[in-house]
Amino acid sequence: MKKVEFFKHGIDKEELERLREVLGSLFITTGEAVYEFEDDFARYLGLPHTVAVTSCTAAMQLALLAGGVGPGDEVITTTMTFIGTPNATLMAGATPVLVDIDRGTGNIDPAAVEAAITERTKAMIPVHLYGQMCDMDALRTIADRHNLFILEDAAHAIESKWNGKAPGHYGEYAAFSFYATKNITSGEGGSISCHDEKQYELLNMLRLHGFNQLAVDRYTSNYEKYDIGMFGWKYNMDSIHAAILIEQLKKIGAYSARRKAVFDRYTEAFSTMDGIELHTIRPEAEHAYHLLTILVDPKKRDAMMKALQERGVGVSINFVPVHQMTYYRERFGYRDGMFPAAEEIGARTISLPLYPKLTDEEVEYVIDAVRETVRSV
Ligand SMILES: Cc1ncc(COP(=O)(O)O)c(C=O)c1O
Repeated sequence: MKKVEFFKHGIDKEELERLREVLGSLFITTGEAVYEFEDDFARYLGLPHTVAVTSCTAAMQLALLAGGVGPGDEVITTTMTFIGTPNATLMAGATPVLVDIDRGTGNIDPAAVEAAITERTKAMIPVHLYGQMCDMDALRTIADRHNLFILEDAAHAIESKWNGKAPGHYGEYAAFSFYATKNITSGEGGSISCHDEKQYELLNMLRLHGFNQLAVDRYTSNYEKYDIGMFGWKYNMDSIHAAILIEQLKKIGAYSARRKAVFDRYTEAFSTMDGIELHTIRPEAEHAYHLLTILVDPKKRDAMMKALQERGVGVSINFVPVHQMTYYRERFGYRDGMFPAAEEIGARTISLPLYPKLTDEEVEYVIDAVRETVRSV
């Protein structure tokens, strides 16, 4: 039995070298390495600013707060996402409103977003599922018509484009994740993009107790007393994580090329395999190839996952819809049957290994294991 891990990171000697440098310097909390990463990442996205924080969930909470979301407000998002997306709205003191997806792509359905808008709606969080961006033209039109702002959940979508534009171009904000299994990673980490200087300053204060100066800036001049003019959280990224991310970002082109090659091989094999269906990819989308998911018979899904793991293949489910989580059912009264497209995907989906370190031999092993299990279970 061959073991094919669900994910392996690519942190290597370049990251270790940078870490050694940072650990040998005076500032290991937010300092020069963080600024360097923020500048590099903003340049990569083609946006004026990014603010580095401890997770994508924190990034989303702060973006909502910066946009003025608070108690009494509603924020519309998809039920087909990781729990961090709606939880960020709860963390901002507002109410998440879940809607259904487009069956083909798995992304939020713009018509469902528009139907869910009330006088309390302040914002929407489209989630670029698996690495394919949502229909951002349709969503931008709806947001403008109803005076809402857009926070893009780009946890899966660092390298993605919609009509040539990266995350953060259509939306007022985009939030990124550098969690352990993401396309670039520092174990944990996140980032928020924004467009204007005022928002940038506000996000900087919100991520660190309302300070308008970081420890590193206070140190380089003479000691000055500080004051706090607003309430903030403790979500600043440190230089240790930034050191890893500076080097990870340099590898992103090579990573993408390998991810695409693996994704294309899987697509070629699974598109003609009986009992397997794949999501559609829209012509406007450039994919980030974050997750490769297959759709199988819902009656067979769990047995297939077990059989794949018995063959040593790491698998996952992305996602069980949020409205089927006990906490959300009990608190907001969600029930099965409310979002049929998401429920169908949630019952049929299996995520397979997809990362740059996968060898061609491992990819073929996974394909053979899927072919055998889809027939045998
Ligand atoms: C779609 C999506 N949004 C948000 C998150 C949360 O990211 P983080 O763990 O960095 O808070 C994840 C994490 O896996 C995710 O998949």
